[in-house]
Amino acid sequence: MAKIEIIRGDITRLDVDAIVNAANRSLLGGGGVDGAIHRSAGTELLEACELLNGCNTGDAKITPGFKLPANHVIHTVGPVWNGGMNREKELLSSCYRQSLRVASENGIRTIAFPNISTGVYGFPKLEAASIAFETVQGFLTDHPEIEKVIFCCFDEENFGYYNKLNCNKTLIKLVKSTSEIKIVADLASTIWNEYYVPIIGQEQVNYMVASFQSIEAIEQQIRTEHQEYYLIYHLAEPSGYICIKPAGNDLFLSKFYILKEKRGTGLGKGGLNFIISRAKELGANAITLTVNKNNINSINAYDKLGFKNTGSVVTEIGAGFVMDDYTMRLDITG
Ligand code: APR
Repeated sequence: MAKIEIIRGDITRLDVDAIVNAANRSLLGGGGVDGAIHRSAGTELLEACELLNGCNTGDAKITPGFKLPANHVIHTVGPVWNGGMNREKELLSSCYRQSLRVASENGIRTIAFPNISTGVYGFPKLEAASIAFETVQGFLTDHPEIEKVIFCCFDEENFGYYNKLNCNKTLIKLVKSTSEIKIVADLASTIWNEYYVPIIGQEQVNYMVASFQSIEAIEQQIRTEHQEYYLIYHLAEPSGYICIKPAGNDLFLSKFYILKEKRGTGLGKGGLNFIISRAKELGANAITLTVNKNNINSINAYDKLGFKNTGSVVTEIGAGFVMDDYTMRLDITG
């Protein structure tokens, strides 16, 4: 999954597969980043743009980068801000999505965006940054072929907004496709080995991962057991996953894991808030779960999140393995 980077600098200096130009509909150059890119690329860029026959707002077209360090320029035309009543947000989102579509179609792996429409076109910077993040993250979750996206901020204000948004950029997405199920299976193998080997030993971890978290097992759980899996992306990186299933009047939280490296980034709280909102959507009275009696970290984490201990349960999981768990419950209020 792609890495998202935020830098402050001059996009014309970036040695990436493609830089995006905030152009105008003529594609014949202008001021701002458009002017800077044309000045650095040289006159061949204008000659190439003259053959493109312009570009609609929200759309994107590609040319070589010529004298630029970047191999390509993807020209997109942002909306002029006019109070937000003329589809400006939708058109700005389209600029990011179409630019990434053109990048993907041209085998581009690393791409840098300026803060489109936030200069001459007057789009409010914080709103534009949020649209940029949401659109790019949404695209990247279905397009692993894009390896890196750089938001290249030229001014301090944009840089500040992007970093403010970035620290809690979490996306929780329902798992549907086989490629997403594979991401869950890979995460499960990593996380279960990180957390459970010291608790239940390597042999039982291997058995459980192979039996319950293989691609086939997850597909089966989704298809026939009405379990819902969600991927947790942090900064566009798969960082954890959730599995829930209705259980009578309650919602059973079957799995809720965060990569060790992503602990402390607020994903636990963010993930639980999501689970609570889903429980409310399903009309559940409570969220219930089981947790291994020796998994002190998780027990403390759930305790901190407001779960109460309601007893214990021993489960035969096959191959002679047994799970000795506490049962915990969080009542859904309101
Ligand atoms: N590198 C990165 N970003 C830059 C650079 C640069 N060298 N120069 C300017 N920027 C930033 C601006 O600070 C702003 O945050 O690009 C962002 C977009 O501003 P504009 O370039 O003014 O683009 P936009 O608001 O989309 O207006 C497009 O301006 O230049 C004309 O021909 C262009 O008519 C079109 C209009």
